[in-house]
Amino acid sequence: RFTPSPDDKFSFGLWTVGWQGVDVFGPASRDLLDPVEATYTLAELGAAAVTFHDDDLLPDDAQREATLDRFRTALSDTGLVVEMVTTNTFSDPVFKEGAITANNREVRRYALAKVLRNIDLAASLGAKTFVMWGGREGAEHGGSKNVPAAMDRFRDALDTVCAYVIEQGYDMRFALEPKPNEPRGDILLPSIGHAIALISELEHPEMVGVNPEVGHEEMAGLNFAHGIAQALWHDKLFHIDLNGQHGPRFDQDLRFGAGNLRGAFWTVDAMLGAGTDRRYDGYVHFDYKPPRAEAIDGVWESARGCMRNYLILREKVQAFRADPEVVAAVEAAGVMELEQPTVAPGESLDDVRNAAYDLDALRARSVAMEALDQLAMEHLLGVR
Ligand code: GCO
Ligand code: MN
Ligand code: MN
Ligand code: MN
Repeated sequence: RFTPSPDDKFSFGLWTVGWQGVDVFGPASRDLLDPVEATYTLAELGAAAVTFHDDDLLPDDAQREATLDRFRTALSDTGLVVEMVTTNTFSDPVFKEGAITANNREVRRYALAKVLRNIDLAASLGAKTFVMWGGREGAEHGGSKNVPAAMDRFRDALDTVCAYVIEQGYDMRFALEPKPNEPRGDILLPSIGHAIALISELEHPEMVGVNPEVGHEEMAGLNFAHGIAQALWHDKLFHIDLNGQHGPRFDQDLRFGAGNLRGAFWTVDAMLGAGTDRRYDGYVHFDYKPPRAEAIDGVWESARGCMRNYLILREKVQAFRADPEVVAAVEAAGVMELEQPTVAPGESLDDVRNAAYDLDALRARSVAMEALDQLAMEHLLGVR
C-alpha cells in the first residue's frame, strides 16, 4: 500500500536529491551525488520521470557528450523519461542582476543563448515541458529596475522562444514559475496571477502556462489550492512543483506533505478536480530540498516520503469525495449552486432588479461550512 508505480507519474528534479546543503550560512553538508546514479535510484524508488536544469546534469562542457551518453543509457535501462527541462539562469554571477530582464543587454543576450541551447537539448531528450523560473529577475532597490521595460523583455524572450520552437517543429510548451522573493529581494512575476497576466500579452499565449510551486505561493501567504484551481480554469496549469512550507518565511522546499498539511490535502483535491472534471493530468513533480541536516539515507527517505504522502493524501481525498456524508454536506453548503449562472439565459436585468429578496431570511441562512470542513478534517486525521 502507498507504493509508487510508474502509473502515478511521479517526477523529481535531479537538483532535489542532488542538493548538497549549501546555504547562506555554510558550505555543502553532503557529497556530490552523480545525477546519472540518482536517476537509477529514483527509478528504483518508483518515479516515472526526471527533470533537470542544464547545469545539474551538464555542469562541464568538456564532459557534455560523455555524460549525456551515460544519462541516455540510464533512461533506457530504467524506462524513465525526461518530462521537463529548465535552465539555470540564476547561479552564475553573470546573472547577479537578472538574466532575460537584466539591465545589461549583453547578459540578456547570453541568457537567451543559454536558454535556446537548452531547448535543443530538451527536445532531443523528448521533454514536452520547458520551465522558466526567473530566480534573479528582480531587484533589491526601489529605483533600480524599470519594471515596464522588464515586462517588455520578458514578453520578447517568450515570443522568441515560442517562435523558435514552432520553427524547429518541437512538441514543447513553456511554463513560467512564480516566486515572490529569494534569491532577489523582490522577484518579478511573484505569483501565479502575475504570470498568467503576462501570458495574456504574448504572441502565442496557448504555448505558455505556469509551473506553480506550493511553497512559493505560501511564502506570499496565498492559498495554493485556489491558485492552481484558477490556473486550471485558464487552461494554464502546464506543470506543478509540489513541496512543503510553514507559512510566510524563507523558501523551505520541504518534502511534500510536510509544513502545511491541510494545504497539501486541498492541493491534492484541487489536482484531482475538487469534485469537478477540471483536473490536472500532468506529471506529479516534486521540487524540494532534503534538509541540510540529513545524510544520504535521509535524502532517499525524503524522496520516498514525497511520493508516499501524495499517495496517502490522494486516498484520503478520494475517500472524502466518495463519502455520502460529504456529498450531503457539499450539497448543504450550496457548493454546486455556484455553477448556476447568476442571470439565467433568457432572463432580463429587470427580472433581477424587480425580484423580491427576503433579506432577513438570506442574512439568517445556514451556510453549513463548518460541518463540511470538519468532515475533511476527520478524513485527514484518519478517524473516518
Ligand atoms: C525554487 C525553485 C528552484 C528551481 C525551479 C526551476 O525553489 O526557488 O523552484 O528550485 O530552480 O523550480 O528552475
Ligand atoms: Mn522553492
Ligand atoms: Mn520550483
Ligand atoms: Mn525549488
